[in-house]
Amino acid sequence: MEGKDRAGRGEFLIYRPGRLHNVNPPFAVRATSLVFAGGPRTFHHRTVTPEAIKEALKQVKYPGFSRDIVSFGLVRAAAVVEGTAKVSLALTTSDPHVPAALKAEVEKVLRALPGVQKTVIEIAVSPVRTPAAGTGGNLAGGTAPTGIKHAVAIASGKGGVGKSTFAVNLACALAQLLAAQGQAGRVGLMDCDIYGPTVPLMIGLHGRPELEGDGAEAMLLPMEIHGVKVMSMGFLVDDDTPVIWRGPMIMKAVQQFVQNVKWGELEVLLVDLPPGTGDAQLSLVQILPLDGAVLVTTPQLAATNVARKGGLMFRKVNVPLLGVAENMSYFTDPAGRRHHLFGEGGGARLADALGTALLGQVPLLPEIRAGGDAGKPAVVSEPGGAAAEAFRAIAQSLLDRLATAGR
Ligand SMILES: Nc1ncnc2c1ncn2[C@@H]1O[C@H](COP(=O)(O)OP(=O)(O)O)[C@@H](O)[C@H]1O
Ligand SMILES: [Mg+2]
Repeated sequence: MEGKDRAGRGEFLIYRPGRLHNVNPPFAVRATSLVFAGGPRTFHHRTVTPEAIKEALKQVKYPGFSRDIVSFGLVRAAAVVEGTAKVSLALTTSDPHVPAALKAEVEKVLRALPGVQKTVIEIAVSPVRTPAAGTGGNLAGGTAPTGIKHAVAIASGKGGVGKSTFAVNLACALAQLLAAQGQAGRVGLMDCDIYGPTVPLMIGLHGRPELEGDGAEAMLLPMEIHGVKVMSMGFLVDDDTPVIWRGPMIMKAVQQFVQNVKWGELEVLLVDLPPGTGDAQLSLVQILPLDGAVLVTTPQLAATNVARKGGLMFRKVNVPLLGVAENMSYFTDPAGRRHHLFGEGGGARLADALGTALLGQVPLLPEIRAGGDAGKPAVVSEPGGAAAEAFRAIAQSLLDRLATAGR
C-alpha cells in the first residue's frame, strides 16, 4: 500500500512482508514513513528484491568457470522475506563438490545483503546423464528430447579450424552410412554457434523452419537436406543483424533448440558448439544430456593447446570425450606429395594427452571449402572423393565409439 502521507511529505509504505519484494527497484533505499500514533516519522528501510539478489549472486562463479551462476540460468528463485534470504538453484552435475562449493559461496553473498539474518539455500542436483543411462535423462532445465539416441557435441577451442565444415560433412557422412543400413533420416544437426551460425549456408538450406502447433506448445520442425535434419539459429535471425548475446540469452536459445524442436527419432544428433573452452559447453550440458564430445583441431600447437583446454572442460562437466578429429591435416599436390602445412601429428598428440582416440584426419581439400561456400557439402557432391572417404571413416569410428560407450 503506497500513497502520500498526510503531511504531503512523499511516499510512505506500510510494511507487508508478502508484498515487499514487488515494491522497490533493486537495492532501493527509500525513505519510508510509517504512520504512528504520534504522527508520521521517517526512517530508512532497506528492501532487497529478487532482481537485486540475483544481481548480487552474479559474484558467484560456477566452480572452474569464468561465468557466474545467474547467467548460466542456475538460479531458479530468490527472495528475502522477513530477514530470511531464500535461494534455490538447479544444476546438472555428477561432481559432489560443486553443490557444496556453490552453497558456501551463495551463503557468503546472501549474508552480505542488507537486512539478511538467515539464509535458506536449496540446491536441486541432477546427475549428468551417462551414455549407459539411456535416452531422456533427467535434467535441471526441463525435459530432454526423448527420441534422440546419441547427442554428440562438436567442439573446438579456436574458431576457424573448420568445426562447422566438419560438423556438416560428418552429419552427411553419418546419414549416408545409416541410410545404407536401412536407417534413413535419423541424423540431426543442431547449429548452436549463435555467434556465427554458418551451418545453413554450408549445407544449402535457407528460409525459416515451420512451426507445428501454436502458443506455448508450438514446436519448430527441423529443415531437412541430404538426409540430415537441421536446426540453426541462422534460420531465426536475419543475416545482416548482428546478434549480441548475453549469457542468459545463450541459455534460453539453446534451451529452446533442445526443448522446442521436433527432432523425431534420431540415431545421432550432432551439436555444433560455438568455439571456446568452457562456458557454452557448460550451458549446454545443463540442458542437453550429451553422450560425448568430438574435438576438432588443426595440427598446429596454437590450435591443439586451446582444444586441450576445451577437452578438459568437458571432462570437468562429465561429458566423455569420444575422440579428436584433425582437420586440414595435409595438402596433397598434383604430384601426389603431401604437405603438412600446419605441422604434423598435432591431432594424435592431443588425443594422447586427453586419453582419447584420434577418430581420423581430414585433408585440406579445395572441394571442401568450395562445397561449404556453395551449400553442397563435398561428402554429398563427390561421394567417391577423398573428402567423402575421410568423413565416412570418421563417421564409422564415431558410430563404433558410441556403440561401445554405452549400450
Ligand atoms: N578440410 C578443409 N579443407 C579446405 N577448407 C576447409 C577445410 N575445413 C574447413 N575449411 C574452410 O575453412 C573455413 C573455416 O571453416 P569453418 O567450418 O567455418 O570453421 P569454424 O566453424 O571452426 O569456425 C571455411 O571457409 C571452410 O570452407
Ligand atoms: Mg563455425
